[in-house]
Amino acid sequence: MNLVVVSNRVARVKANEPMTGGLAAALLPVVEKSGAIWVGSSGRVRDGATKDAFADIEPLGEGAIALLDLPAAHYGGYYEGFANSALWPALHSRSDLIRVSLDDYRSYREVNAFMARALLRFRKPDSAFWIQDYHFLALGEELRKLGVTQPIGFFLHTPWPSRDVMNGVPNHRELIEAMLAYDLIGFQTENDCQNFASYLKSDLGLKIENNVVTSRHGTSRLAAFPIGIDVDAFAANAARAISHPEVVRLRKSVDDKRLVIGVDRVDYSKGLVNRIKAFDRMLAINPSLSRTVSLLQIATPSRGAIEAYEALQTELSRVVTEVNGRHGEVDWTPIRYLSKGFSQTMLAGFYRTAQVGLVTPLHDGMNLVAKEYVAAQNPVDPGVLVLSKFAGAANELDTALLVNPHDVDGMARALSMALTMPAPERRLRWEAMMKKLRNGTIEQWSSSFIAALEQTRTAEPVQYCDFPKRKAAADLTVH
Ligand code: G6P
Repeated sequence: MNLVVVSNRVARVKANEPMTGGLAAALLPVVEKSGAIWVGSSGRVRDGATKDAFADIEPLGEGAIALLDLPAAHYGGYYEGFANSALWPALHSRSDLIRVSLDDYRSYREVNAFMARALLRFRKPDSAFWIQDYHFLALGEELRKLGVTQPIGFFLHTPWPSRDVMNGVPNHRELIEAMLAYDLIGFQTENDCQNFASYLKSDLGLKIENNVVTSRHGTSRLAAFPIGIDVDAFAANAARAISHPEVVRLRKSVDDKRLVIGVDRVDYSKGLVNRIKAFDRMLAINPSLSRTVSLLQIATPSRGAIEAYEALQTELSRVVTEVNGRHGEVDWTPIRYLSKGFSQTMLAGFYRTAQVGLVTPLHDGMNLVAKEYVAAQNPVDPGVLVLSKFAGAANELDTALLVNPHDVDGMARALSMALTMPAPERRLRWEAMMKKLRNGTIEQWSSSFIAALEQTRTAEPVQYCDFPKRKAAADLTVH
């Protein structure tokens, strides 16, 4: 099978460059090992919607990356507009932040149609298309309009909200009907899958049997495929990274004190303001912790041209300054706040250095930082993961200290507990999480999805909203 993977953002090919968002990091090893071609936006735009020149095709492991310049007239309405000011807030249950116009929707559809035309050059008789994320909900329908008959699968990296929230998205009906052109629609969790199924039943009046929905497009299968990481590679990377000069500098600066780490894109779904408030509260409740613990918050700027993101950056700077002003001393800064990205290798070393990983999104499809923090730990002296129960990762990492990210006091208590947890308990919790991570690696994620996509062309049903049964390893190889 010739696999064509499509996403808006693609990874940078050069090793050790910062990567924005979990999607790019997750897909990198999939493409490297499977030999797929990965098509995405070059980040540049080009005049004239019909010109679709690729800026670049670069080899990536066994596969390749193809970067496409998107049409200038529609890029803003597509990316900042419909994708990130209508779909993203709705998918994270923040309908109050939806700001969108009909023109934005039109641009979104134009870019989906443009991408479909560009993909034709990669089509071979044995191709299969695997479309990623909310930027391309309608791409399957556009490919079908162009006569593509090959299997097309779709995976959503974000949550899928309840049906009333989706009803707040302009043109939701047309868009979700278009999604049914996909043969397979994958979600991070069963809850997301069930929310989607509930929309199909209640709003579109469709019947779903054995996880298969029938529409004017034919049949589509729905299933949950929780995304994972390459656990052993990440662990080995973390062990090596400990001697990286930047990591050595961090360790020296922490000395015999303790470090709590948070790593996120600046996004309202990540719960960053409440997290800073929880750290503040912890210092207020336990004055004895003053000078003994600091928070390293890496906050990579994101989507800065959108008002809600700009406002969040301003608010975060204000809250961090307040907390540092209140608790800091001439020779101690409680919160080290860095507005930039770091390479995966450096992050792995930072995770291993920190005694606590603080991952507290208000809503998150999966959250791979949580998984990476766990994988990076030293087995004899592992750190503690404090994790929001509203991250998809909480389904698997249920021996983390699970918190409600809206409850600042509760998070402050969990933080104190994490900082004082005895080693035997830390090891027990960590071992249980590692076992889960090894049972759901990135390799298993992609193999399961591709196997299920191939099965859509056979009559064999898979269990409704269940993680698809794994086939024998030999059957799962991606070609
Ligand atoms: C999330 C989305 C990805 C996106 C990433 C970074 O992880 O699910 O699709 O690529 O954020 O966002 P950006 O808008 O910078 O690509």
